[in-house]
Amino acid sequence: MDDSRETQSVNAFVTGYPVKHSRSPLIHGYWLKQLGLAGSYRAHEVAVEAFEAFIASLKDGTSGFVGGNVTIPHKEAAFKLADRPDELSEELGASNTLWLEGGELHATNTDSRGFTANLDERHPGWDRSDRAVILGAGGASRAVIQAVRDRGFKEIHVVNRTVERAQELADRFGDRIHAHPMAALHEVMQGAGLFINTTSLGMDGEASPRIDFSSLADGAVVTDIVYVPLKTPLLAQAQEQGFAIVDGLGMLLHQAVPGFEKWFGKRPAVDETLRALIIADMEKH
Ligand code: ATR
Repeated sequence: MDDSRETQSVNAFVTGYPVKHSRSPLIHGYWLKQLGLAGSYRAHEVAVEAFEAFIASLKDGTSGFVGGNVTIPHKEAAFKLADRPDELSEELGASNTLWLEGGELHATNTDSRGFTANLDERHPGWDRSDRAVILGAGGASRAVIQAVRDRGFKEIHVVNRTVERAQELADRFGDRIHAHPMAALHEVMQGAGLFINTTSLGMDGEASPRIDFSSLADGAVVTDIVYVPLKTPLLAQAQEQGFAIVDGLGMLLHQAVPGFEKWFGKRPAVDETLRALIIADMEKH
């Protein structure tokens, strides 16, 4: 940390289009206050056609920001425009966290770390089995595949309505990833110790198919990256069927940690007060 940070206010952003629904300002605002830091973190909406100019202003210092978070639809552009994307974002082709360092714009993607940290916190031992099933092959599935693979699962089965998309991810993320159509779901679930929903099924009260989890291994964990509602229909079903569940809110909270530490120089903690703050906000909207 350079000396100027001690005396000057450090400003960070979350950008997207639209960005007003982002809960990141609440998360970072909570940590800034808790740690007594003088910085700011705010939503900064940038349209697609203005994004490149915004990144140029970040690089030349005229934006007034030291870095920030990037959300939909700018994650791919952020990755491409950064001077130094790291390996994690390179593999995903998308970055969600940017920071200036040594005059260059660095980029990473913290989603896989957020996924892993959430499970480490809420269900230690989640990584004990060899076999995982991931439902969905969209944008959100990629970071989950990365996380599960990097934690050491030996067989990772990606099941998707459009099997071609699952196959693309299997080709991209390596030998341990296998692609399947929906019809194979029950079969590939046999003996798996981890099941993850990355699809939008059940989001915002939408209908969700009935899933029979009974072929999962004893002690298996079921998690969902959707966190509105907190207990998605899939999680409710898994719990009724006797399996441990972990909701997706912690992924959102934990993915914010590395960025905060880069910009403001202190590593924040995900605690129950922060979780309650975000849940209260979800209930308002
Ligand atoms: P995201 O970036 O949030 O993952 P996405 O790229 O649109 O969003 O992917 C959504 C995922 O949910 C996909 O895996 C999608 O399946 P397809 O690839 O076949 O479209 C899945 N999905 C959405 N609605 C679904 C439904 N009704 N039944 C099964 N899968 C569904």
